[in-house]
Amino acid sequence: MEYQNPLRDPEDQRLPRIAGPCALILFGVTGDLSRKKVMPAIYDLANRGLLPPGFALVGFARRDWDTQDFAQVVHDAVKEHARTPFREETWRQLAAGIRFVDGDLTDPTSYERISEVLSELDNKMGTRGNHAFYLSIPPGLFPAVLKNLESTGLANSASPTSWRRVVIEKPFGHNLESAQELNKLVDSVFPSGSVFRIDHYLGKETVQNILAVRFANAMFEPLWNSNYVDNVQITMAEDIGIGGRAGYYDGIGAARDVIQNHLLQLLALTAMEEPLSFSADDVRTEKEKVLRAVSVPKDIGAHTSRGQYQSGWQGGIPVIGFLEENGIPADSTTDTFAAMRLNVENRRWAGVPFYLRTGKRLGRRVTEVAIVFKRAPHLPFSSSAVEELSNNALVFRIQPDEGVTVRFGSKVPDTSSIQVRDVTMDFQYGDSFVDTSPEAYERLILDVLLGDPPLFPRHEEVELSWRILDPILDYWATQGAPDQYASGGWGPASSHEMIARDGRTWRRP
Ligand code: BG6
Repeated sequence: MEYQNPLRDPEDQRLPRIAGPCALILFGVTGDLSRKKVMPAIYDLANRGLLPPGFALVGFARRDWDTQDFAQVVHDAVKEHARTPFREETWRQLAAGIRFVDGDLTDPTSYERISEVLSELDNKMGTRGNHAFYLSIPPGLFPAVLKNLESTGLANSASPTSWRRVVIEKPFGHNLESAQELNKLVDSVFPSGSVFRIDHYLGKETVQNILAVRFANAMFEPLWNSNYVDNVQITMAEDIGIGGRAGYYDGIGAARDVIQNHLLQLLALTAMEEPLSFSADDVRTEKEKVLRAVSVPKDIGAHTSRGQYQSGWQGGIPVIGFLEENGIPADSTTDTFAAMRLNVENRRWAGVPFYLRTGKRLGRRVTEVAIVFKRAPHLPFSSSAVEELSNNALVFRIQPDEGVTVRFGSKVPDTSSIQVRDVTMDFQYGDSFVDTSPEAYERLILDVLLGDPPLFPRHEEVELSWRILDPILDYWATQGAPDQYASGGWGPASSHEMIARDGRTWRRP
């Protein structure tokens, strides 16, 4: 019987992008990312009818598990974290293709077992030799895993009609040099078209919407330059601390964890020129041009800020400071907050600062890109009439309240003299569209299985981003402990001083 996707509207005539037969081999199945994001996203894709009947999921880890145990782990992860409702029929179909291989990432014989399981799946499930290896593992293990994938023949398909791909989760190195080494290593095993580096921000609908709003409309682009824009503020604030991620986070910190990838990608999408087309090459070329044009202010101390959260209160609950977190050394200098001013040295953006900031344990969870416009060149009002008027702004609300806000001045009704005050016009995804947005990982995993690369950064982008960040990280490394900030606030005083030096203030998101 033909499988009917219960979530698809039969009237919808658009052709869905459905992956072809294939197997996804997940390395690092015991990690948080796999359980909270990857497994639920795979289920959601299956539930939306976007995975073929010939789909298999192979888990690989050093665990005394059989396939049933692994299937239970996936089942629990799906029940807890999937976006779409749980349906027995979808689950049964997915479970038929689930396998587990107990093995060691560094041991070649484990890879031979993976190979046997994949042959069995090719025969039984019809996965046709199409295999995607998803590496959600600590970066120190990359060399061993890649070497083993190569030496056991898993990285190369003997047949011209089947494909092999590798998916890499960040961190892509910890500075330019290590990123270059990693890229060299990956490129020596997989051809560049088969390498998919995940920056999950690019999979978010609201991030892709930056390009839609800019390039599908006539009214924004004429203003999108230094004649009208005063500054751009890109904020990614989190209210959570580091949770159980001390092992990953200590020594990495906010700038490497978030600015190097997510925020520089947001900057690139906001500042780039119109691409010739939305093909992977054309979009990546324009992003690379922007990243190449980014410069770091000479006085790094004056134009950057970093901090570490202290104990305090958040949402009425007491929280501990970063240095008291389990697994963090008492003398750690890791930044949990980072802010910086960057310049984009080209005709469009000359003189327009791009302010980037991110941090854990801030006032609330919010990610936004705010284009702050210049004041009107002349205001034919008394100064008291415009006391409550600030700069016009266009704000992409990336999450959690997804949408776009335009802020402008309007007359306050019913006053004897004219008064102009800020008002906002809001577009909310939830009000305008019926469907809820897919999770970023749904989009990105589907793109990997389809071999569709526009939403994945090329290694040039990764290296250019490190080129921007390295001088700042090197400078910070000579400056001892980061500044302190109270949990639940908006970062250290140095971050407010940094922007005040330019005569500006941070937006209160
Ligand atoms: C990850 C970072 O890339 O993004 C985490 O490693 C962070 O530290 C996470 O918490 C935030 O993702 P999102 O989608 O919730 O903004």
